[in-house]
Amino acid sequence: MATSGKVIRCRAAVAWAVGKPLSLEEVEVAPPKAGEVRIKIVATAICRTDDHLLEGCFPNADFPVIPGHEGAGIVESVGEGVTSMKPGDKVIPLPLPHCGECSFCLNPESNYCLKYHVSESQNLLPDKTSRFTCKGKQIHHFLWISTFAEYTVIPEYAAVKIDAAAPLDKVCLFGCGFSTGYGAPINTAKVKPGSTCAVFGVGAVGLSVVMGCKAAGASRIIAIDINKDKFAKAKELGATDCISPRDFKKPIQEVVTEMTGHGVDYSFEAIGDVDSMTAALAACNMNTGVCVMIGVAASGAVMSVDPMLLLSGRTWKGTLLGGWKMRESIPKLVSSYLEKKFNSDLLITHTLPIAEVNEGLELLRQGKSIRSVLLF
Ligand code: CU
Ligand code: ZN
Repeated sequence: MATSGKVIRCRAAVAWAVGKPLSLEEVEVAPPKAGEVRIKIVATAICRTDDHLLEGCFPNADFPVIPGHEGAGIVESVGEGVTSMKPGDKVIPLPLPHCGECSFCLNPESNYCLKYHVSESQNLLPDKTSRFTCKGKQIHHFLWISTFAEYTVIPEYAAVKIDAAAPLDKVCLFGCGFSTGYGAPINTAKVKPGSTCAVFGVGAVGLSVVMGCKAAGASRIIAIDINKDKFAKAKELGATDCISPRDFKKPIQEVVTEMTGHGVDYSFEAIGDVDSMTAALAACNMNTGVCVMIGVAASGAVMSVDPMLLLSGRTWKGTLLGGWKMRESIPKLVSSYLEKKFNSDLLITHTLPIAEVNEGLELLRQGKSIRSVLLF
């Protein structure tokens, strides 16, 4: 390509400081170094985690930063040694990398990678430098992928090639929200046919959990949210019951326990709120129940739990990106989407130009959107 090897000037939504709205800027994007790829982002969605970052609640974040971690695009150029993709390929950037070499990546049971931000900051690329500058200042990467930039540079192992037929403005959700929710019941909880499930929080991730529970054959799926506007979509996607904690005097875990006799077989927390996490744990069967935590709590949040809840036999788990081994699984999920095995398009309530990123964030904060997709 004509731009290969050169600095590209393009648009990006930059967060200059915590608590400030994003600012649409012209940024410079350096060419990829060895083992990296430069990607033209076509579409990116707004996830709650981007808002956590803007609020200063995301662990190990550095400002200024270009947020965004749920996107899809086309390879513009590749650095030396890159073999899994070439210019023109459609790709999805991966917020959870998959280096393929660390002990976790080599473990077939694990989808964690030691290059993930909990182990290693992903604010700079692996060589500890940034590919972004703006107004003479270095700008940080976010989770190595910064999809709120029209062009972004990513380590090869934090992106994956997908089917050329995939519509990028739809499959951009597969980088985080959809895959996280859909995978939790399938990979992490291993929901059995005929079982009962409860989903705490039915935003994009929770609705994807509902879809995953249905795909796994659950016979009863209880959706729980204080925003009843989300119930119609939850029902459309497979929820059998929709309840709001505000409609009951007693704690919602007691309501769920009464509705199901002894609690659900599987409960999922897709909010990131410690009280909801405790409620989700107590809402599953005291002995055989499995509770999966999906929502990201603010950094520094602490939970206190009655040990009896676990002593009686419950299983309490967490999941990252739905338990998928990213570089193997995301292309397969895209193929399943193209075969119409599920309809993740129903999660997209708004499509906006990148210039309206702040309006998109506001829609999410006010509970008026499920997913807003931003187009460059
Ligand atoms: Cu996300
Ligand atoms: Zn790894």
